[in-house]
Amino acid sequence: MRILSGIQPSGVPHIGNYFGMMLPAIELQEQGEAYLFIADYHSLTTSPDPELLRQRVMDVALDFMACGLDPVKTVFFRQSDVPQVTELTWMLSCQTTVGLLERAHSYKDKLAKGFVPNNALFSYPVLMAADILIYQSNLVPVGKDQKQHLEMTRDIAMRFNRIYGDVFAIPEVQIKENVAVVPGIDGQKMSKSYANTIPISDGKKAIRKKIMSIVTDCKELEEPKEPEGCNVIKLYKLFATETQMNDIYAKYRGGNYGYGHAKQELFELLWEYFAPFREKREALAANLDYVNQVLADGGAKAREQAELTMGKVRRAVGLR
Ligand code: ADP
Ligand code: TRP
Repeated sequence: MRILSGIQPSGVPHIGNYFGMMLPAIELQEQGEAYLFIADYHSLTTSPDPELLRQRVMDVALDFMACGLDPVKTVFFRQSDVPQVTELTWMLSCQTTVGLLERAHSYKDKLAKGFVPNNALFSYPVLMAADILIYQSNLVPVGKDQKQHLEMTRDIAMRFNRIYGDVFAIPEVQIKENVAVVPGIDGQKMSKSYANTIPISDGKKAIRKKIMSIVTDCKELEEPKEPEGCNVIKLYKLFATETQMNDIYAKYRGGNYGYGHAKQELFELLWEYFAPFREKREALAANLDYVNQVLADGGAKAREQAELTMGKVRRAVGLR
């Protein structure tokens, strides 16, 4: 079974990325051949500063490896080290209707937020389909926001196979329901584009400050509070045992327990949870040559697989 997923270097990875995609993908490393990549072509849709892009690619690489991505088991690479994926995007674009792309929620959201869309932002799901199909992927672990993109990938692949024969494996999506949408400190989906994240690599002071600014209602310290629906609790749940959950529910409902107390408990759990991560990240950051070598080796392996598929695709469409 081939497992594949990607993350954009559009900011530093946060706990939404971690629980929604990075951890599930790392867990799947044991169950098949995993391909994980940094989607740098995708982040060009928002034209980041070139130096910042280079920096962020390295941040994502360090974070992913420090979280447990094992480059012996997993092919870890930069999307742009496989330029064949842009060639496949063209072939797939020729079989993708404008209507399908116009229905994409992510595109409509960007328009609603006032983005002036470029052609690449519009055709983003086709590049994503190419990422998945070029490696004949069977399983794609992602957060819930990517569900529709996966449905589009399947549509595009089935249409292509119907016209040209069985060229692509049809991928399945894996979404972990309990962590499908991790909320940000403002209660919206945590996202690098909303400035509401808790980055996993932030320092103690910065993380504490972000946790202390999580939005809650304005109940006084003495008043009993409702844990269900509270943003602090939603995040606490990601780290807590069942006993810890029962305890904090009781404290909320008992009164004389403020949101500041709950935030402090969340901070302590989170900080401890990521202690091994911080140690590993520091070691990797001191050995960037090794990290660059991992990405280069991964790129070479991914290109080899991509070429195998592209040979089939070029023949199927009549270009050879
Ligand atoms: P962002 O929205 O922060 O830019 P990406 O689009 O790069 O994140 O997403 C990388 C992966 O992390 C995707 O699989 C996505 O579904 C997942 N993900 C992102 N934000 C969250 C979240 N708040 N909760 C759960 N999963 C998330
Ligand atoms: N679009 C995904 C996101 O923003 C990143 C991505 C690009 C991806 N290509 C992919 C995820 C292929 C899974 C499979 O999160």
